[in-house]
Amino acid sequence: MYWSTFVVLALGASSFSKPLQKRWDDLTTKHSWLEVPEGWELQSLPPADQPMLLRLGLKQDKFDELVRNLYEVSEPSHARYGQHLSKEEVDTLVAPHPDTVSAVNDWLMYHGISEPESTTSAGEWVTIRVTVEQAEKMLGAKYGVYRHDKSGDTVLRTVSYSLPKELHSHIDVVAPTTYFGTMKSMKATHFLQPELDVHAKNVSDVEPIANAVPPASCATTITPSCLRTLYNTANYVPKATSTNKLGVAGYLDEFANRADLATFVSRFRTDAAGVTFTTTRVNGGGDDQTDPGVEANLDIQYTIGISFPTPNIYYSTGGSPPFIPDSTTPTNTNEPYLDWLNFIMAQSTIPQTFTTSYGENEQTIPADYMASVCNLFAQLGARGASIMFSSGDSGVGGGNCRTNDGRNVVQFQPAFPASCPFVTTVGGTTRVNPEVAVSFSGGGFSNHFARPSYQNTAVTGFLNALGNTNAGLFNTTGRAYPDVAAQGSGFQVVVGGRVTSVGGTSASSPTVAGVIALVNDFRISNGKAPLGFLNPLIYANPSAFNDIVSGSNPGCGTNGFTARTGWDPVTGLGTPDFLKLQSLLG
Ligand SMILES: *[C@@H]1O[C@H](CO)[C@@H](O)[C@H](O)[C@H]1NC(C)=O
Ligand SMILES: *[C@@H]1O[C@H](CO)[C@@H](O)[C@H](O)[C@H]1NC(C)=O
Repeated sequence: MYWSTFVVLALGASSFSKPLQKRWDDLTTKHSWLEVPEGWELQSLPPADQPMLLRLGLKQDKFDELVRNLYEVSEPSHARYGQHLSKEEVDTLVAPHPDTVSAVNDWLMYHGISEPESTTSAGEWVTIRVTVEQAEKMLGAKYGVYRHDKSGDTVLRTVSYSLPKELHSHIDVVAPTTYFGTMKSMKATHFLQPELDVHAKNVSDVEPIANAVPPASCATTITPSCLRTLYNTANYVPKATSTNKLGVAGYLDEFANRADLATFVSRFRTDAAGVTFTTTRVNGGGDDQTDPGVEANLDIQYTIGISFPTPNIYYSTGGSPPFIPDSTTPTNTNEPYLDWLNFIMAQSTIPQTFTTSYGENEQTIPADYMASVCNLFAQLGARGASIMFSSGDSGVGGGNCRTNDGRNVVQFQPAFPASCPFVTTVGGTTRVNPEVAVSFSGGGFSNHFARPSYQNTAVTGFLNALGNTNAGLFNTTGRAYPDVAAQGSGFQVVVGGRVTSVGGTSASSPTVAGVIALVNDFRISNGKAPLGFLNPLIYANPSAFNDIVSGSNPGCGTNGFTARTGWDPVTGLGTPDFLKLQSLLG
């Protein structure tokens, strides 16, 4: 459809483009690093004739309108609340302007590229097949094969790239270029907690009861019963199971294991005996049932543990294969998030709730790349999806927290996608009666995304109470996170047939997703729209959350922030209360 539009425009436009030479040789820098990103080193140079696929993110003509639509359908007081957009409506808003298409096509024609390899249905992402030599000429770049020291991953990247001056207003991002992240180099936000396994041995699961005090064992070992009691979902029976779905985005060749799920429910959710989930493979993602992943099992066991019998989908998105120079196979762009997001956005029906447990420091991601990925989450929200992300497991920042902008000063290190204003970011708690912030709970303020208005009152209240604490270490005008929180320590997870204790905000995000999927079930079974983008709703209704008022998230050699009454950058608005959300939204 749009593919043919592209070609027609390409031919039409090229006939009247005149001073080609001058027009396209005027390269100015689009993004550049001061040095090779930390943890990566140049291994070799690729052959000049090495084919590669370049993905161009074209400027979306009516993106501001998309964001306006997103807020209107997500703002509970708005007349359009719940009137989510169809795929076609989103496509109309994100399609590039014809001037953008013709400028980009002229440039491609100038470089001898007459047809793209593929385009998205709206035409805002265009993938072209080029050789390394061509890409270097087009982008004023120098590609190298870079190796990640810890994971051994190798990728084809450049430390800087440029575009003709005229195209800066037409192309938002080109990939792969300066974004070095791969799913293996990035953190999955969980860790094993063997020290808690002694407690686990004695866990005898109890019947969950809504509005009851959870058993003391929940202070050190978390099971679905603990969460269903704590967050008041225990008595709810889902009804909309033919339409309502929960999606878990998985990466890293992490496979969710069916036998482990069966063992898990036989111990911790006996009424779910026989439950399973669908695995959807994206971009060559696998489904090796002999290789269970801790993250994948944690996610799927807890989303199902809470949302059963809501159907769950596990998305296994292919990782970055080692880069092997080869003159016939183009190296896949293998961009984390983009592969999955482009796949999801192409579906006409999507799950109403998603959870993802990956993230990395904002400063390691080029600004243009971050903006493009965050825009895709806005599109997903406009389509009616609630998107949960874990806030990270390093408090206000792990490691030495030095900036990579040449100043080399200590700054708190916000994480992305946690910092994207269009996702709902989940921090961690521990203990019961009361719950307190868990010390690793990621939280802070973006240096890239400005504070969205939905959190103005909440965040200003916090900043006023904070005074000068941590002044200069974080950006007071940035998007602040997390938005909400849930338990994040001592989760009992079955991996390879054995129960093991797992912690991290990786556990918190699927927990909140499970609760939200049940609220979506309640809405849908009452003939209402799903919740969609949650943040405008939840900041307007903080009382539907259990405020967490103690604990802190140290990091970067500081005490970090402290949880307090109201929103805070450790636990957000607090942990969800299903019964309150239900009565609010009934
Ligand atoms: C587990 O239970 C046994 C026997 O009831 C008891 O002796 C032991 O102290 C308990 N361990 C923990 C960690 O609670
Ligand atoms: C602070 O955040 C804003 C966005 O809200 C950004 O424009 C600005 O560059 C950031 N400042 C620093 C020092 O990172």
